[in-house]
Amino acid sequence: MSYIVIGATGQLGALTVDALLDRGAAAHDIVAAGRNADRLAALAARGVHTRSIDLSDPATLAELFSPDDTVLLISGNELGQRVVQHGNAIDAAKAAGVKRLVYTSAPKADDTALVLAPEHKATEELIAASGLPATILRNGWYTENYVQAAEQAGQTGVLLTSAGGGRISSASRRDYAEAAAVVLLDDTTAGRVFELSGDTSWDQQELADAITKTVERAVTLRNVDPDEHQRLLVAAGVDEGTAGFLVALDGNTRDGLLGVTNGELSELIGHPTTPLLDGLREALSAD
Ligand SMILES: NC(=O)c1ccc[n+]([C@@H]2O[C@H](COP(=O)([O-])OP(=O)(O)OC[C@H]3O[C@@H](n4cnc5c(N)ncnc54)[C@H](OP(=O)(O)O)[C@@H]3O)[C@@H](O)[C@H]2O)c1
Repeated sequence: MSYIVIGATGQLGALTVDALLDRGAAAHDIVAAGRNADRLAALAARGVHTRSIDLSDPATLAELFSPDDTVLLISGNELGQRVVQHGNAIDAAKAAGVKRLVYTSAPKADDTALVLAPEHKATEELIAASGLPATILRNGWYTENYVQAAEQAGQTGVLLTSAGGGRISSASRRDYAEAAAVVLLDDTTAGRVFELSGDTSWDQQELADAITKTVERAVTLRNVDPDEHQRLLVAAGVDEGTAGFLVALDGNTRDGLLGVTNGELSELIGHPTTPLLDGLREALSAD
């Protein structure tokens, strides 16, 4: 019987391994899987088993799973390749007949205009089609997503956005990692879909205020329309595609797709989620 964390070499995955250990899982029952050799070595030093895998190479997944395993499939970070990659892991898990699969998805993945959702929706469909017992964690936004914006605003004194008054219910990665550990350890969560988010939501002015407190420099909010946002990003050296993606995400924020607060995350982890200011401070000091 093992808890297999696919993506353990990533930030959420490493925190999930920590959370599993904190919540009483034995190190020898945890298998940390990923590609990065240095990070696998760091995980091995904590006493957990490690496996080198490439989600694009089914051969590396063939011997990974056993019927008693509970598997956390953390969504990959190679946009556009993830459905195939996740499908490879799901196929291998199905072939082994694992006990349960847990997947980190996106808010309302099956019914949202969120630009990042289609690969998550397709993955959820593959999981459903596999017939494996599964738990879906539709993770909301990480507070850490705003570290770069905070660092830039710290340098320029300006927070540039086209998110309008849209609210974001972010939580810290650690909160989502704890939730992943909780559901991995609890088989009664099979069949559940959790919509996870921070307890409270904030808007761009509140983000600017939090950055001001964190970087100790007055940060002014500059809320522009999407075309102007795109133009300013490109003028600042961001390539067209990335700029378009960032503007689309701000559009999703403006439309309220990232602002749901339902308390499911704090209920799962048994304590309030990390507030914006605390999460930002911690992330910036770690950066
Ligand atoms: N909710 C949010 O706000 C938010 C924000 C950003 C991302 N995400 C999603 O949540 C996931 C976890 O977040 P994170 O911050 O932990 O991301 P991360 O630090 O970039 O970690 C991504 C993990 O995916 C693994 N991975 C990617 N492609 C792989 C492949 N072909 N084969 C094997 N492993 C592969 C990486 O392994 P190696 O490092 O060993 O290559 C790493 O362990 C991301 O991958 C992304 O899908 C969510």
